[in-house]
Amino acid sequence: MLYSEKVMDHFMHPRNVGTIENADGVGEVGNAKCGDIMKIYLKIEDGIVADVKFETFGCGSAIASSSMATELIKGQPLSEVLKLTNKAVAEALDGLPAHKLHCSVLAEEAIQAAVKDYYDKNHIPYDEDTFRVPSHGEEA
Ligand code: FES
Repeated sequence: MLYSEKVMDHFMHPRNVGTIENADGVGEVGNAKCGDIMKIYLKIEDGIVADVKFETFGCGSAIASSSMATELIKGQPLSEVLKLTNKAVAEALDGLPAHKLHCSVLAEEAIQAAVKDYYDKNHIPYDEDTFRVPSHGEEA
């Protein structure tokens, strides 16, 4: 089967869909090749992700990736959130087909963008290296 049960589950029943009013951080990224867009909303309390929601206009793998990624970062301190890689998201989904790996990259990037937005809005200093360079369209 092309997709794992977990991918199908998170695609059919995505967790944390929606928006957060007055979110502390919002990150929006897109993939120029497929045209898919992902938006992540974060509520931060004491440096911890108190709530997270997403809106994804994209393929099933992008929806499953956002759903899994939001589950992975919920309740986590930002230091851990920033360590979340697309690989970890794909692994948590029991894998994605190679040509769908970029969908999980979108989740990593959107989360990073949302944390950056939070830091910027709150004038929290950070090292630019903290945020990995967006890797749009690097996939095969
Ligand atoms: Fe582009 Fe899935 S096909 S995000």
